[in-house]
Amino acid sequence: MSKLWGGRFEGNTDEFAEGFQSSISFDSRMYREDILGSIAHAHMLGEQRIIPKEDAEKIVEGLKSILTDIEEGNVEFSVHDEDIHMNIERLLTERIGDTGKRLHTGRSRNDQVATDFRLYMKQAGQETIENITALCTVLIDIAEENTDTIMTAYTHLQKAQPTTLAHYMMAYFEMFYRDIERMKDCIRHTDVLPLGAGALCATTYPIDREMVAKELGMSGITRNSLDSVSDRDFALEYLSAASICMMHLSRLCEEIILFSTNEFGTLRLSDAYSTGSSIMPQKKNPDMAELIRGKTGRVYGDLQALLVVMKGLPLAYNKDMQEDKECTFDAVDTLNACLRVMGGMLKTAEWKKDKLLKSAGLGFTNATDAADYFVKQGIPFRDAHAIIGHLVLYCEQNGKALDEMTLDEIRKFAPDAKEDIFDAIRLETCVNTRNVPGGPAPDMVENHIRQAKLLLGEL
Ligand code: ARG
Repeated sequence: MSKLWGGRFEGNTDEFAEGFQSSISFDSRMYREDILGSIAHAHMLGEQRIIPKEDAEKIVEGLKSILTDIEEGNVEFSVHDEDIHMNIERLLTERIGDTGKRLHTGRSRNDQVATDFRLYMKQAGQETIENITALCTVLIDIAEENTDTIMTAYTHLQKAQPTTLAHYMMAYFEMFYRDIERMKDCIRHTDVLPLGAGALCATTYPIDREMVAKELGMSGITRNSLDSVSDRDFALEYLSAASICMMHLSRLCEEIILFSTNEFGTLRLSDAYSTGSSIMPQKKNPDMAELIRGKTGRVYGDLQALLVVMKGLPLAYNKDMQEDKECTFDAVDTLNACLRVMGGMLKTAEWKKDKLLKSAGLGFTNATDAADYFVKQGIPFRDAHAIIGHLVLYCEQNGKALDEMTLDEIRKFAPDAKEDIFDAIRLETCVNTRNVPGGPAPDMVENHIRQAKLLLGEL
């Protein structure tokens, strides 16, 4: 079988080299985008009388039948035809005869692949936004039920101050909401049509690029043909946004793994999202969370791979750029799967409220509030900090919590202390009085939840 570009060749491609340079094994997933792009191109060629209208119609019919056949699983692609673009063109010509050979008028695979890839990534970005949104909904649901579930908040992984599970969940909501915004931005940059750029310097035919963009539902056309065929920023933007999103998932996984240890014991994963050990009968491992954490490295690798592929390329298209797809598709598949697993894992996990509370009562998480108590009595903060520091040391040496001391004991360090200090350092007080925007007080978090629902509703 001769190559579609075989005219100037006398010899055949080496068989191993043919497989080496072929991309059909991974770009066949863009068959739909390729066909819809070709249909729009054919409509435009007919409309502009660049090819006879009847030919355009015949081409469109042929392409539609190929689409149906692919979707029904009746088409086998061939390595010989290199990529999805030439496979479909070959199939078209086999079906409708020589008319099929008119489709590629005024077009190159360089602007074609850029178009297909953008269409695919626009859709991929939308799917990712849907998956992040679904995860955000799970976070909000957990938050809504736990605005007064007290837990420890950490710095340096040392107990710091008390907060609520809702406040904690909503911290992750913020991260994932920013991921949605980044994905939206990425879609905005992706959603422009490069078709019409030709191989690199556009075309002499009187094409109507706006018409093609409109038919493909793209918001505009690219402004420079050289850039159009050599730009992969849209894929890099997806990979960057995906990497940041994976980083958020990974941090959450790290905490899920930690909280479900026997040492913390504040979270219990459901059987549906845990696995056992082949030797240790007692084990219930957080494999899903570990895998998401592990796959984060993989997605960072995908980003790195494409950044390095692109860094030394002269304008315009270079075959190096065929390396753009495997890493990008891998990131799309990985991120979407991780988002789904995370949603299911969180939705079915059980938070041990009594343990969360008990743990928050240990480790002097109310020490800042104890210091603030004295500040409110007119003592400078630095002095109050020192008083409580000594109190904590005394407590540690005597195996007590701050609220287990007697008033007399406290007065040895702070003669001004009164009975109401015990109310001031109750964990509920510590949380409820942090009622500034962004703080853990239940009303503040309820406000945040309301706002978050509105933000998601606007998507
Ligand atoms: N399979 C190629 C890719 O994915 C399509 C463009 C090829 N163009 C070329 N002139 N070889 O990048």
